[in-house]
Amino acid sequence: MRVSGPSISESSVRGHHTRSDQEQTELNVDFVRQQFPIFSHQDTPLAFFDNAGGTFVPQQVIEATSEFLSLYKVQPYSSNDASQGATTRLEGAIGRMADFINAKHSEVVLGNSTTMNLSMLAQSLRPHFHEGDEIILTEQEHQSNVTFWQRLAEETGAKVVTWPIDGESGQLSLEVFSEQCLSEKTKLCCVTHSSNIVGTVNPIKTIAEKVHAVGGWILVDGVSYAPHHCVDVQALGVDFYVLSLYKIFSTHLGLLYVKESLHNLLENQNLTPLPSAYGCAPQGGQQQNNAMTCAPNYLRIALNPGMTNPELAASMLGMCEYFLLLYQHHFPQEVAIPLSELSSEAFRHRVERVFTLIERYETELSKKFLAYIKDSTLNSMGLRLIGLSITDSSRRSPTFSFRLPERWNGKVLVAQLAEHNIGVSFGSFYAWDCLQALGLPSEGAVLRVSFSHYNHMSDIERLIEALEVYASEQLETA
Ligand SMILES: Cc1ncc(COP(=O)(O)O)c(C=O)c1O
Repeated sequence: MRVSGPSISESSVRGHHTRSDQEQTELNVDFVRQQFPIFSHQDTPLAFFDNAGGTFVPQQVIEATSEFLSLYKVQPYSSNDASQGATTRLEGAIGRMADFINAKHSEVVLGNSTTMNLSMLAQSLRPHFHEGDEIILTEQEHQSNVTFWQRLAEETGAKVVTWPIDGESGQLSLEVFSEQCLSEKTKLCCVTHSSNIVGTVNPIKTIAEKVHAVGGWILVDGVSYAPHHCVDVQALGVDFYVLSLYKIFSTHLGLLYVKESLHNLLENQNLTPLPSAYGCAPQGGQQQNNAMTCAPNYLRIALNPGMTNPELAASMLGMCEYFLLLYQHHFPQEVAIPLSELSSEAFRHRVERVFTLIERYETELSKKFLAYIKDSTLNSMGLRLIGLSITDSSRRSPTFSFRLPERWNGKVLVAQLAEHNIGVSFGSFYAWDCLQALGLPSEGAVLRVSFSHYNHMSDIERLIEALEVYASEQLETA
């Protein structure tokens, strides 16, 4: 059940602004920060750069979760008022998250995490993999997009084909893909939209076309991409897409998208009688969008044992409210329409425009940071960016990983920055294949600085100053 009212006209969807309005509008970061309680919590606000690990949430998310826990914390899909409220919020959240990535309500699962979703998906596809089939895995993947596919290959006799990265730049080459990886045997290609170490935006649409041309499926890990850019699964033409909502200003859930035409292929991972009990077994059962009947469809039952945590799902409505508030604040000439009355298209349009502001703002943060690194003593001491030194948001996400100069101690550096209330992180970030291919020890050797649109320019200045202090201490003790 979509939480929506009457559909609104095209002019309300698209608004009255021109392209140049959009180009002139800049993200008001002070307004953004007012929505996040963390930034008014301490005298020296946190300068947080571990956003690729997980973001803070705005007040709207806290309120939506609190409202659910206060009023609707019972089993959904029953007929009492509280349960109906729970159903409306759970289904409303799933519908809105579908809009968020331009999917249908029936194509989205909210599971515990991306890792859990991928595990379920791999198991559910097992009957379709056989000896002779090939699964392409890139060396940019987080391990959660590796392990379950390797296991699937071991269990079925399928073969894993590695799409290697360039050992220096960390980049994936389309030429290498076409000439060394892709073949008529390709059954599945797993590729990250933007790696949590390298940051480059991979050309997913092109890869999807190539994979489909040989009859394979494509699965995209959007976990590092989706907090910074608007995802459009239809425009990308992908079969499966995953992202983690706790990295997009929300609570700890993972979103799995499965193209509708593939639902019947998935083997049930839930309790045996469940799909039939809900009247949606794949053979002969209903496969349509069950939003209308207020019950989950086959995809959501089959791939989500235990079903979605409803209070966490409800928090997604808070995240959507937050995006809507940003839209209304930055485009005040628009008539403010409540979330519950926006059509899918109108909501989606607002999300797209807010992401345009976010991309532009994060590009400015990245420019400042990279310009500093390039000319700094850190660079002359040997701090090296992994991946491309570019800021264009169509080519890079603002997640920057560095090789440390010799004798620097990443853990000490991170602890020292934490004393100044600056959050960065050091480790492997579960991208073990990537680190290994880059010639780095897989137990962890990367300093990662990842931005969010709530970072202030002054946060970057504080980070730069603190890095300078550490660097000069290293020079003194050298
Ligand atoms: C790129 C990437 N993919 C997948 C994951 C796994 O996500 P989850 O923690 O939701 O299982 C992460 C987590 O950090 C990630 O960064």
